[in-house]
Amino acid sequence: MDSSSSSNSAPAFLPFCSPSIDDSDIAAVVETLRSGWITTGPRCGELEQAICDRTGAGSAVVVSSATAAMHLVLTALGIGPGDEVITPSMTWVSTPNMIHLMGATPVFVDVDRDTLLVSAESIEAAITARTKAIIPVHYAGVPCDLDSLRAVAKKHGIPLIEDAAHAIGTRYRSMEIGQSGHAIFSLHPIKNITTGEGGILVSDDPSLADEARRLRFHGLAAEAWDRDQQGRSPQVEVQSPGYKYNLPDMNATLGLTQLKRLDEFIERRTAIAKRYLEELADVPGVEPLAIPEWDHLHAWHLFVVRVDEAEAGVCRERFMSSLKEMGIGTGIHFRATHTHRWYRENGVVAPGGLENSTWNSERICSIPFFPNMTDSDVDRVLEGIRSTCPAMTKGGST
Ligand SMILES: Cc1ncc(COP(=O)(O)O)c(C=O)c1O
Repeated sequence: MDSSSSSNSAPAFLPFCSPSIDDSDIAAVVETLRSGWITTGPRCGELEQAICDRTGAGSAVVVSSATAAMHLVLTALGIGPGDEVITPSMTWVSTPNMIHLMGATPVFVDVDRDTLLVSAESIEAAITARTKAIIPVHYAGVPCDLDSLRAVAKKHGIPLIEDAAHAIGTRYRSMEIGQSGHAIFSLHPIKNITTGEGGILVSDDPSLADEARRLRFHGLAAEAWDRDQQGRSPQVEVQSPGYKYNLPDMNATLGLTQLKRLDEFIERRTAIAKRYLEELADVPGVEPLAIPEWDHLHAWHLFVVRVDEAEAGVCRERFMSSLKEMGIGTGIHFRATHTHRWYRENGVVAPGGLENSTWNSERICSIPFFPNMTDSDVDRVLEGIRSTCPAMTKGGST
């Protein structure tokens, strides 16, 4: 999307995110539209193969959202009533909701105050005899310390499901996220690559991937494409009742062209993040997230700051409304789940409490961050932030 000025003198609204769709994306989708096959078919298979090639995953299952991918992996792992699943409260509500809807209990652990990542120690402290899965979040595109999380999961024999909704292209040490274990990616339009809406489950367990593949389409052993093109019996049987979570080929086609541009997107995001980090260092109370010390490649999905009124001179809500008045969009990722009404009344909190999640939930704000942002868009955001917190700028008087 072009974020340059509109015809009058006021600059066009700068959203906090926008997908980068170019002529190659459009041409590929048009070709699929003209092909005569637009629902799940060969393009989905190609996208699954491309994801395996890129990440090193053993199997990939493309579906209609990361929420659907989470549902399928939880189902395939047999999560149900009486079970507990450990996850941070500082996540998107889709995961706790899904755990609850399956009859299990989400148990919320706190995150590091400055990276928003869960630690192996806080996970281990939350494990009980009922714990049946652990779901860490690679928040904003930075990986959790997987070695320590995997060690705890292995020690207790509990499956780890990486919520990599933000982390397509992220690397932990020399490994791309998704290379081993189970992980879910989101392809929602604000993510680093998109299919419009969509998600992918990757797993190194081929039988779990097969089960998810059946469950994504009513529990049938073969999908419409297989039946139509490969001459299988149209009377394939339900192996166990499933869902309608398949992704159309129109969307998968977009995923294929977007995936080719993923590195270019991450490179541009990294350059924008570098400028934000350098220039926000001079704005007290507008504190970007910290970068963990372990070896990784950050996919820079979101650029998150915490607005601390005591230092910035404005509260988060005033910070957001001031930027909005200047035509600059912002977002919140996330309001911690335990602060939502239903979870306030019904949530289960692990020992240790959720102090850092609560602190961040009240201050967190995502500022504009997408590959098509121009350098002058970045200047505009930084000027907007400085003029929102003018007297507090380092070196100035308060
Ligand atoms: C951390 C996290 N997990 C899961 C999801 C669910 O992704 P989807 O919207 O593709 O279902 C999101 C969506 O933003 C997310 O941020």
